[in-house]
Parts: sequence; structure tokens; C-alpha cells
Amino acid sequence: MQSEEDKYPQAQQVDGKPLALDIQHLTQVFHIGKTWLNEGKPLRAVDDVSLQVRNGEVLAIVGESGCGKTTLSRLMLGLQKPESGAIYVNGQALVDVDRKAFARRVQPVFQDPYSSLNPRRTIGEIIMDPLLIHDIGTLEEQRQRVEETMAKVGLPHRMINSYPSQMSGGQRQRVAIARALVMKPEVLICDEPTSALDVSVQAQILNLLQELRNELNLTYIFISHDLSVVEYMADYVAVMYLGRFVEVGPARDVLERPKHPYTQALLGSVLTPDPELGLPDIDLGRGFPDPLNPPPGCRFHPRCPKAMAVCSQKEPEKLTVDGTEVECHLYAKEDADIPV
Ligand SMILES: Nc1ncnc2c1ncn2[C@@H]1O[C@H](COP(=O)(O)OP(=O)(O)O)[C@@H](O)[C@H]1O
Ligand code: SF4
Ligand SMILES: [Mg+2]
Repeated sequence: MQSEEDKYPQAQQVDGKPLALDIQHLTQVFHIGKTWLNEGKPLRAVDDVSLQVRNGEVLAIVGESGCGKTTLSRLMLGLQKPESGAIYVNGQALVDVDRKAFARRVQPVFQDPYSSLNPRRTIGEIIMDPLLIHDIGTLEEQRQRVEETMAKVGLPHRMINSYPSQMSGGQRQRVAIARALVMKPEVLICDEPTSALDVSVQAQILNLLQELRNELNLTYIFISHDLSVVEYMADYVAVMYLGRFVEVGPARDVLERPKHPYTQALLGSVLTPDPELGLPDIDLGRGFPDPLNPPPGCRFHPRCPKAMAVCSQKEPEKLTVDGTEVECHLYAKEDADIPV
């Protein structure tokens, strides 16, 4: 049998340099209703996902609520162990470093800065915490790094002794970003980082993230249901449906010339301001399928306006069409011609 090592021999290189983030065939299965007698029913929340992001790039992941975005980000943060597959950060495999060392390199920025900040700790303490946990530097160095990081994210020094409840939503999100940056990470995973904020404040935080990316050569994975945010931030877009990437390509191509019928429907839909509601399905007829019983063949076929006979029988393979990867039979001539 092929060992995991043979299967994923090493991280890929581009121009002789390792990729900032290289994910190969990542799969996460939850066993629903598992007991000591019963294996449970498998739910493939992330199903054979591969992803390559170069240094300094922003990749946005879009898809309806329940498609697997948070599970994928937890895997990338090393918070969950995948069922199979490999994750490399700048050429180093996640399995080769311990969880703590990995956490220095990949940091999260979550949606709601209020619930993710401890209300009983001052801003200075919150930003310093990761340095204490990871035992980085002397107390003096830690203080200096907190002050530097506060300045970088535009937080005035006088706020160092303030509490989260004394700050505005935008300031709290700056604290959350500072807490992630104080570790000097290489990759930031931003899960709906601005959706809890007012529109005017959203723009300031997005601008700040763009500035920080240029200044620090950071790589972002950006999860957002807001396509205008995606358009502003992303170099590449990955469209996720029931645990799989159905379309991945340069942002402009995916947003202006979507190839997959699901991407086309998403772009044609009216967006809701609440990320918990996910992307609406007004153009998609039937609702999101049961992930415990995914449809056979192409998982999108019960909702697809362009479905052909082959679509319910055969899973589409990944094809590259004009520089975009797409999983759809429409682009495989031989599949479209199969008599069924
Ligand atoms: N810890 C878990 N145990 C069982 N099922 C889970 C767990 N976490 C997520 N799921 C399921 O996995 C699928 C993907 O969920 P999630 O990653 O949260 O999607 P998203 O972030 O896109 O809304 C959903 O069907 C969800 O119910
Ligand atoms: S493979 Fe078929 S059902 Fe799936 S998206 Fe393409 S046309 Fe639609
Ligand atoms: Mg989520």
C-alpha cells in the first residue's frame, strides 16, 4: 500500500520557491451519530480539496453556509487533524511541526471581535497573550512588540489599558488583527472579518488588511459571503460546494466570466447582509442538499439549470479551462456526449 509520504512526497515549488500555502488532497469526515457500537454516518465536510497560494496573495473562499469553509479553515489552522491529505506552509509540512510552532505561522482573524476578545483583559494584555503562551522574548521585548503592533494596526497607544467594551467595533477588529500579527505569522486566515461591522468601518478594516499585506508580504485566506468584499480583496477565488472546490481561478475571471453553473447562480443572486444565512438560493430552485446524503454524480445536479443526463451518474473531473479549474461536465466534450 502507498504510504502517506509516497503519496505527498513534498511541497510544490514555483520559480524555485515553496508556496506560502500548499494544500494537497485534504479530506475531513465527521461521523454523525457515532457511538461505541455504531460507526455513525460519514459527513464529508471537506472532500479532497487541493489549494496553492503564493506569498503575498489573497485567496477568497466563497460558498453557502454549511459548504465546509470553517472546517477547512480549522484544518489550515492546525486546530483539527485531517482524515487525509497534507498541508505545507512555506514548504514545511504541518505534520512535521508541533501545533504550537504551526500556530505562530498561520493565525486566524475571526468574524466577531467582541466574542473572540476576553472582556476582562486589557487591550495590551490581549495582544501580549500569544507571546506569553509561546514564550517569545523577554517581558521588555514583549511590551515593545505589543506597542509596535498596535501602531501598525492604527490603535493609539493610550488604548493599551482599555477594555474591549470601551472600544468601537472597528477598534476591536484592529485588536483582533494585532493579536494575530504580534506572532509575525506568514499566513492569516480571515473568516468573515468585516461582516459584523458597519459598511464605512468595513472599508477601513479592508484597507488596513491590504496595507498590512503589502508591508509584511502576508498571504491571506479570506472567507467571505460578500462578493463586493471578495472583489476588492482577492487575487484568486475558490468556490466551494458541499465540501469541494467546484471552481478556482483568478478573481477577475471567476467573478466576471464564471464557468461553473453554481458560480453563475451565486453571482446572480441577491446577497444577504447576514453571513449566518449564507448565500441565498433564490436562483437555485431547491435548497442546499443534505450533506449526509449528497446527490450522486455531480453534487450540484438537483439544483443545476444546465444539468444533463450524465450529471446524475458520473462525478465531473477537474478540468482547466482558460486558466480556471472547474469541475463540470459542460467542459468535458466526451462526457457531454456520453449516451445515457
Ligand atoms: N464538529 C462537527 N461535527 C459534525 N459535523 C460538523 C462539525 N463541524 C461542521 N460539521 C458539518 O460539516 C459541514 C460543513 O460545516 P462548516 O465547515 O461549518 O461550513 P461553513 O463554514 O461553510 O458554514 C456542515 O454540514 C456541518 O454541519
Ligand atoms: S456537471 Fe452537470 S449538474 Fe454539475 S454543474 Fe455541470 S452541468 Fe450542472
Ligand atoms: Mg462557517
